[in-house]
Amino acid sequence: MPKYGLELQLEIYGSRKPPSFPVSFEEWEAEAREVMDAGAYGYVAGGAGAEDTMRANREAFYRWHLRPRMLRDVNERDLSTTVLGTRSAAPFMLAPVGVLSIVHKEADLAVARAAASLGIPMILSTVSSFTMEEVAGEMGDSPRWFQLYPGRSDEVMASMLHRAEAAGYSAVVVTLDTTMLGFRERDLKHAYFPFLQGEGIANYLSDPAFRERLDAPPEEDLPAAARAFLDVYVNPSLSWKDIEFIRSQTSLPILLKGITHPEDARIALEHDVQGLIVSNHGGRQVDGAVAALDALPEVSEAVGECVPVLLDSGVRRGADVLKALALGASAVLVGRPYVYGLAVGGEAGARQVVRNLIADVDLELALSGCRSVAEVDRSLVTRVEP
Ligand code: FNR
Ligand code: LAC
Repeated sequence: MPKYGLELQLEIYGSRKPPSFPVSFEEWEAEAREVMDAGAYGYVAGGAGAEDTMRANREAFYRWHLRPRMLRDVNERDLSTTVLGTRSAAPFMLAPVGVLSIVHKEADLAVARAAASLGIPMILSTVSSFTMEEVAGEMGDSPRWFQLYPGRSDEVMASMLHRAEAAGYSAVVVTLDTTMLGFRERDLKHAYFPFLQGEGIANYLSDPAFRERLDAPPEEDLPAAARAFLDVYVNPSLSWKDIEFIRSQTSLPILLKGITHPEDARIALEHDVQGLIVSNHGGRQVDGAVAALDALPEVSEAVGECVPVLLDSGVRRGADVLKALALGASAVLVGRPYVYGLAVGGEAGARQVVRNLIADVDLELALSGCRSVAEVDRSLVTRVEP
């Protein structure tokens, strides 16, 4: 088994040259801020309202501490993790992040290549900048899931689900928490909303069912197509009935993303879904909402062993990954960190962020006395007063 941590350390210390890219999350973020325009940076970095939930996502991690175990021979270890038949080299995947063209011109294509080169699954957003087929074309047999925004048109949803299955995506992540965008103060201040300029709608413009709804093809009238996108995207009438419809349109496993209430987790189990993702969308939707890590133990208890539970929102380092695993997650999703990598260094930047995180997880796991993800359990963490 590869010794990810040691290899990375020897490469850097052996060269005796400081790496050309940043190492810490904070430095990646600061460099991204320098290279991006203010509107785009605000869109990625910002959250809803006062950004209290965004902050709470991080603070929740501070209230749990690891209790490393000693003398357990961790020389042979295996970081790999399989969730619903999809294997990852490490216990994390890349969270779906839309409109990456505002970050880098190669957008999702660059992220796809970075993910594939490291054996980390990518979850492609519905509102990606390249089509799901173009992204699949960069990935060969590498693992990928498709994230679906359940919109107002059953025809468009069905068409996208069929396309995703045909293009080799092996699970569908249905995001529940963004039927409209939250009250994002930074974006309002900058009047920044890239979708109206036609960014992030490649999967729609290429979709036969979507194109049928247009009076003129998008090549002739992009502004009208962008408005038609909003008409199908904004969907506050979303309900459990839609989950049944989605279930009827795909044979792939379905995960619901955006669950934080244990009662919703219990209802989900009645709807033939195969996994849950505890998430508050990185604090971008409901300001004041519970931190994802704080919601995880309750949700995980509510579903028991029935389906895997994943988590995102605030994962920055290896320690965060371990804490989430200890509190019941089967794996986590990483969002903003790789987006900052993409901003700073395109494919190479995104790859470096992911590679560093794999190395960090490897060292944290080993130094905590675990040889595999399966050995991480609740006894590895203790709750501390802030
Ligand atoms: C997102 N996220 C997101 N989620 C989703 O299901 N579909 C999407 O298209 C997007 N788009 C998106 C854009 C940007 C710029 C960000 C930052 C996030 C949410 C994402 O999947 C994940 O839940 C959060 O990024 C987790 O928070 P952190 O850990 O990145 O802070
Ligand atoms: C966002 C949407 C695209 O959070 O998910 O910006």
